[in-house]
Amino acid sequence: MKTIRELDLAGKRLLIRVDFNVPRDESGTITDDLRIRTVLPTIEYALEQEAKVILCSHMGRPKGQRVEQYSLKPVAKYLSDILGKDVTLAPDCIGPETESVVSAMQNGDVVLLENLRFHAQEQENDQEFARELSRLADVYVNNAFAVSHRAHASVVGVPAYCREKAAGFLLQKEMDYFHRSIDNPVRPLVAIVGGAKVSSKLGALKNMLDKVDCMLIGGAMANTFLKSQGYAVGQSKVENDLLDDARELLDTASQIGVKIYLPVDVIAAESFSADAVNKQVTIQDIPENWMALDVGPATVICFTEVLAEARTIIWNGPMGAFELDAFARGTMALAHAVGAAHALSITGGGDSNAAVKKSGEAENISYMSTGGGAFLMLMEGKELPGVVALEA
Ligand code: 3PG
Repeated sequence: MKTIRELDLAGKRLLIRVDFNVPRDESGTITDDLRIRTVLPTIEYALEQEAKVILCSHMGRPKGQRVEQYSLKPVAKYLSDILGKDVTLAPDCIGPETESVVSAMQNGDVVLLENLRFHAQEQENDQEFARELSRLADVYVNNAFAVSHRAHASVVGVPAYCREKAAGFLLQKEMDYFHRSIDNPVRPLVAIVGGAKVSSKLGALKNMLDKVDCMLIGGAMANTFLKSQGYAVGQSKVENDLLDDARELLDTASQIGVKIYLPVDVIAAESFSADAVNKQVTIQDIPENWMALDVGPATVICFTEVLAEARTIIWNGPMGAFELDAFARGTMALAHAVGAAHALSITGGGDSNAAVKKSGEAENISYMSTGGGAFLMLMEGKELPGVVALEA
């Protein structure tokens, strides 16, 4: 993959696709700036090279409409503050007014285009839209790992119209870390997979199976695995149509000698709510009308022992309903175990990253990926369309 260092940027209009789809609270305040801070090295490098830096991003899912709530205005302000430099927000991402903002740029200026998804053509990968965007630039850089699994106009359409294109430092770093952890890992390689649904992780579980030494499965998705082994999981969330897949995965694992660890105990509750009555039970004893909402302490001890031996760890998905304090203990304990491990540790996905942050272990994790869907697509063993488009 060609990188930005291999391009001549001086005086050029450089269009950088970034992913500024950052979480915000009701008042629009940015609550997690990981996706902004991690693109700074690329922007700073481009500025040192005297480029005209044009940034483009989506925010949320405004469905092709101009919705103020999804404007990139707060991001322009935030970026300007941390960059210590003016960042002009263009009125749109295409059109005559935006073109005139771009044509007035001097070397070293930074312009942020307004939300690409205010145009339905972005997600449709409309070729006319892609061509119009590409006309703003001499050079294209993809630095938006987190959206590189989407075959959208700014991700795959624009690079097809740009002769000069490359990966930014963030995309390069994300791909490097992921491949280091999977292709030739220091072993044992342990994957922790959690979250709500087996269905959204099945491809990743299957692909990872013959690459890892151990897999720790937690979160609501563990219930489907437990039920597939004959345990009664009460009212816990289960995907009944995936029981065969779950069973098959466990059988394959035992045939090829990969250890899959499932919870041995859980925190069960009467209902899914912060103040629900709850208790710690073994997986044989989940009451009929109760549901498992977190892994239990015996499971934490067992998972922690596995992680203490690990030399490479990939983590995607929480161990329980960690957004409710009563059911956060398992996920927090795992975050501490990953933080303490003498291993290359990589986390991906909004929930795992939020859990790591909440646990105070962020500094002890080797790499927190900015991607959710993109990270999962790599775990599924697939190529990212945005990366392929740079190589075409
Ligand atoms: C993400 O948050 O995963 C990326 O920004 C992609 O957003 P999307 O799922 O709306 O395409």
